[in-house]
Amino acid sequence: MKSVIILAIESSCDDTSVAILKDGKIFSNITYGQAVHAQFGGVIPEEASRQHMHNIMSVVMAALEKGNATLQDLSAIAFTQSPGLMGSLIVGASFAKSLAHSLNIPLIAVNHIQAHVISNLIAEPKPKFPFLCLTVSGGHTQIVRCDGPLSTTILGTTIDDAAGEAFDKCAKMLGLPYPGGPLIDKYAQLGNPMAFEFAKPNVNGLDYSFSGLKTSVLYFLQKQKTIDTDFVSKNLNDLCASIQHTIINVLMKKLNKAVVGTGIKEVCIAGGVSANKGLRAAMETYAQKYHWKIYIPAFEYCTDNAGMIAMVAYYKFLENRFERLTASPSARGVYE
Ligand code: KG4
Ligand code: ZN
Repeated sequence: MKSVIILAIESSCDDTSVAILKDGKIFSNITYGQAVHAQFGGVIPEEASRQHMHNIMSVVMAALEKGNATLQDLSAIAFTQSPGLMGSLIVGASFAKSLAHSLNIPLIAVNHIQAHVISNLIAEPKPKFPFLCLTVSGGHTQIVRCDGPLSTTILGTTIDDAAGEAFDKCAKMLGLPYPGGPLIDKYAQLGNPMAFEFAKPNVNGLDYSFSGLKTSVLYFLQKQKTIDTDFVSKNLNDLCASIQHTIINVLMKKLNKAVVGTGIKEVCIAGGVSANKGLRAAMETYAQKYHWKIYIPAFEYCTDNAGMIAMVAYYKFLENRFERLTASPSARGVYE
């Protein structure tokens, strides 16, 4: 049988990423981040679109070269259709559509959040179906049940901020640059997670809420700064450790509830926040205590990347689930 070779493009936020997949294996996954946003304390949508436009060609060429493939080898082109920043999505979608049209090969549209879940199927050991996945990124926080590569059910979601957003917003209050999640992780290694106590919002079922925690950190810091203007710098490690501990505690309690409710002990994490050392350690602890089998993607597949888009596209290719060339991206987007 002829090899299936897919070129996948991810451009939903501020990373331009292109991957080459051959017969279900990732041969290259080149991600070009946009450092320009750090100075603004968050992603500037229009600037993100411009940067994608500027970088996409060279990232495509680099992925082809590293993946040892030529345009003529390709069986299909995949792209992130939703959710994400509209201007960013349009760059990847337009590029993918033009390429598929000019090469006369199929186009495959992929949901970004489904792809984060499926990043767990990129490398061995892979979870067995059905599995649960806690997807924690800058824009999403979900517990999903996965019954097959293209069969995903959302069991719980955030009703306000995402976990990554909670990390980033708390980091901003501590004066740390964007994205603050990795910095909180770094300073938390040196601090005491029990030093300060913050609100742990608890909502019904398997849903999450992080806006109360953000407010609780804000009021606490405002009060402390009236007593000592250097409070944050003197207590940075303990503040980071305590904030991180609170977020992880909330995430893991609901995940455990999902395990108990479904009886499924194959448990994965995905999304940018799954790079967090504290969350990874908490997963190990729960695995030992409650006999879960846990799966955590390699770092390059935790944050936004095209490898995960290529993986979903591969399963769609096998089922001939192609997209028309009139396809448009969508900022919100739901699972199929
Ligand atoms: O999945 P991702 O790359 O992009 C979205 O789809 O949102 O996730 C980005 C998020 C950001 O909020 C970033 O602060 C967070 O993941 N993040 C982390 C860590 N690395 C990335 N949060 C906590 N600890 C980390 N080590
Ligand atoms: Zn993402």
